[in-house]
Amino acid sequence: MKNVFIIANWKMQLDDAASEALAQEVVRRWAGQGATRSDVTVVLCPSHVALERVHPVVKGTAVWLGAQDCFWEDKGAYTGEVSPVTLKQLGCEWCIVGHSERRGFLNETDEMVNRKVAALMRSGINPIVCVGETREERTAGRRDAVVIGQVRAALANIRPVGTQRIVIAYEPRWVIGTGQAVAPEDAASMHNLIIQTLFDLYPNDIVERQFSVIYGGSVDSTNLAGFLSFDVIHGALVGGAALKADEFVRLAEIAADSIKP
Ligand code: 13P
Repeated sequence: MKNVFIIANWKMQLDDAASEALAQEVVRRWAGQGATRSDVTVVLCPSHVALERVHPVVKGTAVWLGAQDCFWEDKGAYTGEVSPVTLKQLGCEWCIVGHSERRGFLNETDEMVNRKVAALMRSGINPIVCVGETREERTAGRRDAVVIGQVRAALANIRPVGTQRIVIAYEPRWVIGTGQAVAPEDAASMHNLIIQTLFDLYPNDIVERQFSVIYGGSVDSTNLAGFLSFDVIHGALVGGAALKADEFVRLAEIAADSIKP
């Protein structure tokens, strides 16, 4: 059966009090329904400083905690960085890496993303790896090569074991935060390409059991069902529409409705 992820990336939009309040509201609205829907995984990714306040709110509920980034070493002289070991201690089961805002504003490279994925796997945190092309790359006809290259680079020497999961989030960089998502058919064809790349890298059973590919970029309650109507799209990574509890929980409900029993 299809398992769908609805993942909130709160970016740097909320302070710790607002993060705690939003988490409480999401848990209140989703917890009962979520308990009966193990096929929908709802994850909240607050800023690092809010993790400690949000963790007790979601702990033991049908809502999971994630971080927005991590460093690639466990410990050491790395001023300002946050260890995946600490994130695990703070209750994170998931962590976003390679978000386009980090690739764009902070020059995060494919090699850094790969090292972060490896560090997360060591710490028992499931990575959410963001990939996606810029408008210029798409216009130049390089979309597929860029995305395949990012997937291959992020997963170099990575092999998920046991119950580890890796989510690949296809986020075309030029639609993030614009209110204009790509057409679901467009996203689905990229998902197919990413899944094909995964089949080139891993045995079929590992791809099917341990990888999921989700879409991100201006997802909201008006367009999510269109994306999820494609079998290859296994959820959404959500920015703006995740900042209001009613809209975000509506996304989880749409995801639940999209899964055929
Ligand atoms: P928006 O949903 O605001 O476009 O942001 C998407 C995103 O960057 C999620 O990581």
